[in-house]
Amino acid sequence: METKRLTKNEVDEAISFINNGELVSFPTETVYGLGALATNESAVKKVYVAKGRPSDNPLIVHLASSEDIFKYIDSYPNYLMDLMEKFWPGPLTIILPLKEKTFSSAVTGGLKTCAFRVPDNDLAKELIKGSGPLVAPSSNTSGKPSPTTANHVLDDLSGKIAAVLDGGETKVGVESTVIDLSEENSVLILRPGQISRADICEVVPKNIKVTFDKHLVKEDEIPKAPGMKYKHYSPETKVIMLKRDENLPEAIINFNGLKIGLLANDELIEKIKNKEIAYYSLGSKKDAKEAANHLFAGLRELDKQGLDLIIAETIPDNDGLGKAYMNRLKKAAGGTFFENE
Ligand code: TXA
Ligand code: MG
Repeated sequence: METKRLTKNEVDEAISFINNGELVSFPTETVYGLGALATNESAVKKVYVAKGRPSDNPLIVHLASSEDIFKYIDSYPNYLMDLMEKFWPGPLTIILPLKEKTFSSAVTGGLKTCAFRVPDNDLAKELIKGSGPLVAPSSNTSGKPSPTTANHVLDDLSGKIAAVLDGGETKVGVESTVIDLSEENSVLILRPGQISRADICEVVPKNIKVTFDKHLVKEDEIPKAPGMKYKHYSPETKVIMLKRDENLPEAIINFNGLKIGLLANDELIEKIKNKEIAYYSLGSKKDAKEAANHLFAGLRELDKQGLDLIIAETIPDNDGLGKAYMNRLKKAAGGTFFENE
């Protein structure tokens, strides 16, 4: 199959593909999603095949407008309205018990709950409006960093999907915050993203507990979101993390014979610029927003350069994008740090 690259003026063609049960990758504000009609079981199954995704890993249903969620749920807390009003459209995914006889178990990986979100991207909205609710996991081969450009999508899925709708670079660069509202009086954060715990606490009533899933706190716990238990975000090249250490560039240069790539902010890159070290900038300043926005693109770019090792900068693990960046990077690096001895 030849994968078509469609422009923003060719959304109609993307809609036809989707309505015919084909897969189309499309931009959202976070990363590119691999879209299939959620009501077409055989189309949904194609998503797992194209990505090489384990079939017990449920998908997020993407809606064009917030009210549409009530076609698929009948049990929810009253603060759902406040969360939707404040954060949708936007990078928040909400998990709730799914109404019976709606989506097939191919969508939910056999769970009784379903994940929903309304993406904040005009092309995504136009596509969903013209077709219907779309399942859309990140549009990468399973285990690879999520794609933030149409080229990244084609690098992974060319020949395996009907088309990619090219909307340029995505804005946020890491995937949505995922919260589970299926337990009473609790908001459980399964995946950190731009929308922080503090943002959520401002909206829900004070008596509602807002907690991170245990595995986000303790490494050896089994995560609640099935997707979080797999190896993830990893390029082919080994990745290790840099402790925040002033003298480190010297130590990197003395890494004899190894071809190294540095993923860091401009200040750190400046110190190795004249050396034979590849690099990719996370941005001009130490800023979680910029770092998160460049992380996946940086891992992908450095991975193309035939390096032995990618060394990536760590940033403070603060709520929101700092936490999201560190969550993705730790997985890419399998938790390994560069040792300065
Ligand atoms: O920003 C995003 O969320 C992107 C864009 C394309 O919307 N999508 C995305 O989808 O990241 P995906 O499939 O790569 O990640 C969804 C995560 C997985 O870890 C999955 O296991 C979890 O959400 N998930 C989905 N439904 C769930 C459910 N019912 N219960 C628990 N976890 C669920
Ligand atoms: Mg993914």
